[in-house]
Amino acid sequence: MVEALHNAGVVVTGAGGGIGAALARRFAAEGARVVVNDLDADKAGAVAEEIGGTAVPGDASAVVDAARDALGGTVDVYCANAGLGSAGTEAAGEDVWARAWDVNVMAHVRAAHALLPGWLERGNGRFVSTVSAAGLLTMIGAAPYSVTKHGAYAFAEWLSLTYRHRGVKVHAICPQGVRTDMLSATGTAGDLVLKPTAIEPQDVADALLKGMEEDRFLILPHPEVAAYYQARAAEPDRWLTGMNHLQQKWEATR
Ligand SMILES: NC(=O)c1ccc[n+]([C@@H]2O[C@H](COP(=O)([O-])OP(=O)(O)OC[C@H]3O[C@@H](n4cnc5c(N)ncnc54)[C@H](O)[C@@H]3O)[C@@H](O)[C@H]2O)c1
Repeated sequence: MVEALHNAGVVVTGAGGGIGAALARRFAAEGARVVVNDLDADKAGAVAEEIGGTAVPGDASAVVDAARDALGGTVDVYCANAGLGSAGTEAAGEDVWARAWDVNVMAHVRAAHALLPGWLERGNGRFVSTVSAAGLLTMIGAAPYSVTKHGAYAFAEWLSLTYRHRGVKVHAICPQGVRTDMLSATGTAGDLVLKPTAIEPQDVADALLKGMEEDRFLILPHPEVAAYYQARAAEPDRWLTGMNHLQQKWEATR
């Protein structure tokens, strides 16, 4: 149990299902007061009712003020979890790229902008970013997703290095496949690279809670991702050749 979570005010975006719902359930089980945000008001309402939290439906980009009001004035933990699994190549439409950028990156920036003044004044606050292993590595067949998840990771990293001496803690969760609606929508690329090692949403929540206890920035629910990340940095061409083999294998299945 993370002691600081008892009675803490927690916001989870995109918590109407999947990983966000698992995070919301887990925080509620730790005794936190949880705001459940989702674009889908019915889903947000159902999860909030189940865990005794408060639903604040709407776009994750503009949820901080309403969530803070619902929590009586203070957000202790903010989970920027809502995300889009935007697939496609360089030829994906401008609207696909813009929406991926808006939800996967700018929603995090806007939330941090709204939260940081209060956190810096108090000398504490916690920002949790659900990134993806695609933010450290890549995802075949999904350029907008890979690029924007790299952006989300870069922003979380920047927040952490900039404010850690002022009491702000940041965690970046970078899982590979997790059994949710988003995974089901990844098609044959997901079948090839994500589904064989997929884990449950509650495994992601467990990994986050453990990382919070240990005060770790990088949360890897699939521990093997650390080695892939090292290999990518140490030998970029070898890593790209390996990923290209995966790409060719995928093309052969289509
Ligand atoms: N499932 C995976 O394999 C996987 C792997 C790595 C990272 N992730 C990341 O985990 C996060 C959650 O994904 P998931 O797999 O639980 O997906 P999901 O599709 O099951 O759930 C996402 C939820 O977010 C909501 N949502 C979408 N856009 C929103 C917005 N603008 N504002 C508020 N809510 C919004 C959806 O309605 C949905 O309920 C995402 O950021 C995703 O990129 C998922």
